[in-house]
Amino acid sequence: MAKVTSGPEAWIAPMPALLIGAMVEGKPNFMTVAWTGVANGEPPIISVAIRPARYTMRGIREHSEFSVNVPSVLQAREVDYCGVRSGADVDKVKGAGFNVFYGNLANAPLIEQCPINLECVVQQIIDLESHCLVLGKVVETHVSEECLSTGGTVDLVRVNPLVFLDNPTRKYLSLGMIAAEAFSVGLEL
Ligand SMILES: Cc1cc2nc3c(=O)[nH]c(=O)nc-3n(C[C@H](O)[C@H](O)[C@H](O)COP(=O)(O)O)c2cc1C
Repeated sequence: MAKVTSGPEAWIAPMPALLIGAMVEGKPNFMTVAWTGVANGEPPIISVAIRPARYTMRGIREHSEFSVNVPSVLQAREVDYCGVRSGADVDKVKGAGFNVFYGNLANAPLIEQCPINLECVVQQIIDLESHCLVLGKVVETHVSEECLSTGGTVDLVRVNPLVFLDNPTRKYLSLGMIAAEAFSVGLEL
């Protein structure tokens, strides 16, 4: 296959579009992130790359707590809103119409409309060049009942998560058709 080079680019696709919640200046605030990952299994630790100047980052540094809210495709508009407006200028909870609730952590606001909510305690913040890599230990998980399978475990297909294709495509998508069975189809080779 013929290739062209395009210099150093972090073109990893797709990415999830997630909402990070933090308590900033005594109020819940949410920002959209896509640069995230699972960093450790036991205990579960997730990573989020956040620019240091973000208003949300202030709350994360102050309280060492934050939330990760996994939206469904039905929330694309609210997700985009939280990524193009700053909590420094607007009340995004009001603007997006989020119903906020709390679990064990007083400074990790959670969004009722999102099917999955993770409560996280900051484990480490690594200051890189343009972004801070925030590592958060997940201390509790909340799942909407309608996303549970009959066996009671979470069914991620029912979550219907919002998929994001980064620059230069810049689009939100929903999941497509199942391509193959994981940890199985490879055994055919
Ligand atoms: C789809 C999407 C993905 C984004 N991903 C990130 C990200 O991973 N890290 C980041 O620092 N900003 C990201 N942003 C930008 C922030 O969400 C945006 O600057 C937001 O206004 C910050 O909110 P705040 O000022 O209330 O903290 C993203 C925006 C969008 C629309």
